Amino acid sequence: TAKEAMPSFDFLIIGAGAAGLRAALGLAPLGRVAVLSKGEATDSASDWAQGGIAAVTDFVRDSIAAHVADTLAAGGGLCHPERVEAIVAAGPAVIEELAGWGVPFDREHGSWQLTREGGHGTRRVLHVADHTGAAITRTLLAQVYRENQIRIFPHTMALDLIRDDERCLGAWVLDAQGRIKAFTARAVVLASGGAGQVYQHSSSPRGANGDGLAMAWRAGAALANLEFIQFHPTTLYDPGQPAFLLSEALRGEGARLRLPGGEAFLEKYDERAELAPRDVVARAMAMEMRQRGIQHLCLDIHEQDCERIRRHFPGIYAHCQKRGYDLCREAVPVVPAAHYTCGGIVTDPSGQTTLPGLYAAGEAAWTGLHGANRLASNSLLECLVTARAIATHLAGLATLPAAASVVPAKPDILPALPADVAHERGRALQHLMWTQVGILRRQAELQRAMEQLTQWLEEDALAATGIAVEITHNAFRNRLQCAWLMTRGALARHESRGCHYDADHPNPHQPPEDLIQCLGSAQPER
Ligand code: SIN
Repeated sequence: TAKEAMPSFDFLIIGAGAAGLRAALGLAPLGRVAVLSKGEATDSASDWAQGGIAAVTDFVRDSIAAHVADTLAAGGGLCHPERVEAIVAAGPAVIEELAGWGVPFDREHGSWQLTREGGHGTRRVLHVADHTGAAITRTLLAQVYRENQIRIFPHTMALDLIRDDERCLGAWVLDAQGRIKAFTARAVVLASGGAGQVYQHSSSPRGANGDGLAMAWRAGAALANLEFIQFHPTTLYDPGQPAFLLSEALRGEGARLRLPGGEAFLEKYDERAELAPRDVVARAMAMEMRQRGIQHLCLDIHEQDCERIRRHFPGIYAHCQKRGYDLCREAVPVVPAAHYTCGGIVTDPSGQTTLPGLYAAGEAAWTGLHGANRLASNSLLECLVTARAIATHLAGLATLPAAASVVPAKPDILPALPADVAHERGRALQHLMWTQVGILRRQAELQRAMEQLTQWLEEDALAATGIAVEITHNAFRNRLQCAWLMTRGALARHESRGCHYDADHPNPHQPPEDLIQCLGSAQPER
């Protein structure tokens, strides 16, 4: 066993988005907290969230029961109602806490200005113009910087979890100087986001490789329902440029989806039209695009009040203008893109995974809230509620588990893949997932994808015995393992439900089958 010194923290949090930062604030009274961020502390999907955070604050026109009902309806029969109720009921307190810390939610006539998104029966989405996530994460960061107990490690990447026969002990990390270190802790929280970058078109940040999902799987934790990948209907169609989200709140404020010739078409698919849940809208768009052989559709808000558009959507307006479109005068070209991983690492109401000592929150976690399809703007709410639950649970333990006292031996390091090979493989993987495991799925395509992914996994079999420290290789390996788990789930489901649509099995099973679990490939010898 190596004798080198290692950083000593009570809690290790992997990820610095809303879930990671909120968990850190809750854990600081219990001990020293390390928060790892692969990039800058502000590089997270939470930071990119535009539309807002769903919570009941208008108890005249809205109620907890109505928010629960909308969440269950979007989730297509696979939400866990008691978990939905607990998370939704915590919404008003979360908003009060955020407002108390200084999040400047938009106001109108003396109360919160509430917007609307697909699947919500009423206006209940609080927002800070169109940069709600950034306002929330930066407010949380300001709180974190005031806490002596919390240290943020930017440019520090978790490579793999460390476990013994019984529990998770910490993680191997690559620090900002390129050194590999073992971080051990009393408890580890994975708040590392989703796996959007498995797809060629994704609204997620470049780092959304599903690192936490893949690490948890390699360490033996259970994952579930990864076939439910939510596709956001409207990202700007801008070939060669990184995807840019056009918030669903635009449709909540009157934007229409149109064919390139100007015709609105969503009523044909669902009477809620522009305000149908996003699985319905994204699927309708994919069908129209496939039937007509067209590359994009159009989003049109130009008939609404220009002043109001510019006030509510300043970031979106400015980005579109920079790319040559004026939202106040014309429709903009849009395409759907992979947006959210609805399944994840299975957690109980206290955020515990099936591997003792390992917790998960946010997009990385399966909590039972989203079921087969997440209701818009429920994810920031989930991040904050479940991160707080983890801290409450650990604070309630009679004694906290001890951190490992010996440093485990360093694992084998995989040889770096040549950069061009890694990029080529990465692109082929994203293309395969977009074309064969995308919005509209078929058994034969899923089968072919599975064969290809299994072959790539076998070629990467060395990964079973070592860790990938080279960033491109690490990203490819985590994306590949997530892609394989997603495709495995999609093949096993044999039905269409929520955001999983299999044209060979177009109807849902009755009664619904709940979890398609992927039990981790535990490697306790590590
Ligand atoms: C959006 O603003 O459309 C995204 C909101 C969400 O994904 O919840």
